[in-house]
Amino acid sequence: MKTSSEDYHLLSDDELLEDEPTFPLHRRTLQGRPRYVVPLILTLIGSLCLNVFFGTRNLQIPDFTHLSNSGRSYFAGLSRDVPTTFERGGVYFDDNETISNAAWDAIEYYHGTVALDHDYAASKGLPRSQNFPWDDTKGIYFLNGFHDLHCVKRIRRTMLQLRDGVPLTSPVSHSLHCLNSLRQDILCAADDTPLYTSYDHPGAVGFDQPRKCRSWEALEDWANERTACWRDINSGQHIDTLFRYRYCPEGSPYNEHIRAIFGEFEKGENASAFT
Ligand SMILES: *[C@@H]1O[C@H](CO)[C@@H](O)[C@H](O)[C@H]1NC(C)=O
Ligand SMILES: *[C@@H]1O[C@H](CO)[C@@H](O)[C@H](O)[C@H]1NC(C)=O
Repeated sequence: MKTSSEDYHLLSDDELLEDEPTFPLHRRTLQGRPRYVVPLILTLIGSLCLNVFFGTRNLQIPDFTHLSNSGRSYFAGLSRDVPTTFERGGVYFDDNETISNAAWDAIEYYHGTVALDHDYAASKGLPRSQNFPWDDTKGIYFLNGFHDLHCVKRIRRTMLQLRDGVPLTSPVSHSLHCLNSLRQDILCAADDTPLYTSYDHPGAVGFDQPRKCRSWEALEDWANERTACWRDINSGQHIDTLFRYRYCPEGSPYNEHIRAIFGEFEKGENASAFT
């Protein structure tokens, strides 16, 4: 069998723009086959083209069970029960950066800072954390998924600031730290989902492919029930950390204490000093 590298080269953009795209992986199989094979393959190719043309409509989503990892997350007890697809584009990838920036800016990660009972944390094998300022029986933790969200937001913003030649709001070293966190999470997750490959764009894999995810909203709910009342105000500035833990929800048992120290800090002349 002939196996030169020419037979296996990746499709280039130019090739994709040709009227008749080449399918190098199939080309060799057309030789020396019974007559019906060529029409059959042409039909298949036609079908493939239709798939590309109609996008995902032909991607079957019949049953997710084989796509789910039923294992529950260790802390919030979330299972993979939310049918989702790998995004092709969407607002986070919109060429119009008014739209994509707004989408990214709307991503919040402050919910991810939680106050967990020291006893609970110990029973789960977590290292002891610094005390929650309003309750010594609890420690402050930052949920890893929220840290990752913080990281991708930070990296994206830094990239665009570098592209635009404007002053950086956080040093490149922070983005490098974030990249290293994401690298470790990728290795740790060892995600074995096979992404399908298509001919419609070189290197484009998995577009619109179904999968099952844990519910991010359920994780937010779990975190909100344990909120450490944190906001990333004056990010990057060395303000008294306590200022960042004043944002307890209405009805929180800690509000009285917080108001006694800070007053109605969210109103009045200094409210906008912290954003
Ligand atoms: C980008 O989106 C914004 C908000 O929808 C819109 O006002 C603006 O005209 C768009 N810009 C371009 C260049 O399409
Ligand atoms: C606003 O901040 C200034 C400077 O820290 C302080 O002197 C002043 O009392 C504050 N005002 C209120 C209403 O908290």
